[in-house]
Amino acid sequence: MASTNSWMRQPFRMVHGIPMVSTFVPGWDQVDAFQSHPEDIVVATFPKSGTTWMCEVVDMILKGGDTEKCKDFIHNRVPMLELRVGETSFSGTELLPKMASPRIIKTHIPAHILPKSFWENHCKVIYLARNAKDVAVSYYHFDLMNKLHPHPGTWAEYLEKFMAGKVAYGSWYDHVKGYWARRKEHPILFLFYEDMKEDPQREIGKVVQFLQRELSPAVLDAIAHHTSFESMRDNPTTNYTSVPADLMDHHVSPFMRKGIAGDWKNHFTVAQSERFDEDYARKMAGTDLRFRTEL
Ligand code: A3P
Repeated sequence: MASTNSWMRQPFRMVHGIPMVSTFVPGWDQVDAFQSHPEDIVVATFPKSGTTWMCEVVDMILKGGDTEKCKDFIHNRVPMLELRVGETSFSGTELLPKMASPRIIKTHIPAHILPKSFWENHCKVIYLARNAKDVAVSYYHFDLMNKLHPHPGTWAEYLEKFMAGKVAYGSWYDHVKGYWARRKEHPILFLFYEDMKEDPQREIGKVVQFLQRELSPAVLDAIAHHTSFESMRDNPTTNYTSVPADLMDHHVSPFMRKGIAGDWKNHFTVAQSERFDEDYARKMAGTDLRFRTEL
């Protein structure tokens, strides 16, 4: 196996014009050629938008709210399609073909380069979006602790990179707009992190309906409780503390960091916020996609 130095803190590499985690890139032919099943359920997000939260919600729904059936690590229950760690066999494209249907597949791949097979098979996609300012703050802390990404530099430096789309998976703006536009032609349930925070039962109910399941109000409540921030933070199968510390250093910043809407106010200066808002207005002009930056 190649030294871990060959994939730790490496600069991003381009995939179809998108900056990508260096160690994922050698596996991209398999990603492009991935064969979906029509019953696959895709959880798609821009990183740090609540992906793990939604993965746990969807798995709990499929298991009828039975926590005993959700005891394996979330990255095994819901593999990440494009993940590939060095030369190890730990990769989404190796894990997924061994799984029984219906599979839940996590991905951050932008809509325009999502493997064609998902669109051809009309797979259900649940897209969870989160406001850009909170994503930027969360992503900064993630890049500090996650050694698969280059070091983010200072917060001020990182914010410039985020706005320029020079982070893994590229432009947040293009990512959210890409799935928002495609929801007109494909079965995409487009949800918001802030709505999930505001009323988890209501939003989980939308997922249940989209997946054409029936769950009692009591089971819905149990799922909402099991997937609360506090429960998932304290749950070793969802909080990523099982990942070796040389890959993810939770002492630098825990994966389950704050789990709130509006934390950006603790990090953006007034000048940064104004500059961000001006740039945001330009990049999001012409879309009716609206976000809340606080509750
Ligand atoms: P913060 O860094 O703002 O705390 P992802 O899973 O896409 O990487 O997103 C991680 C972000 O979602 C982190 O945000 C994390 O704390 C938050 N998160 C994870 N589980 C959550 C939950 N059950 N409720 C609310 N936020 C959650």
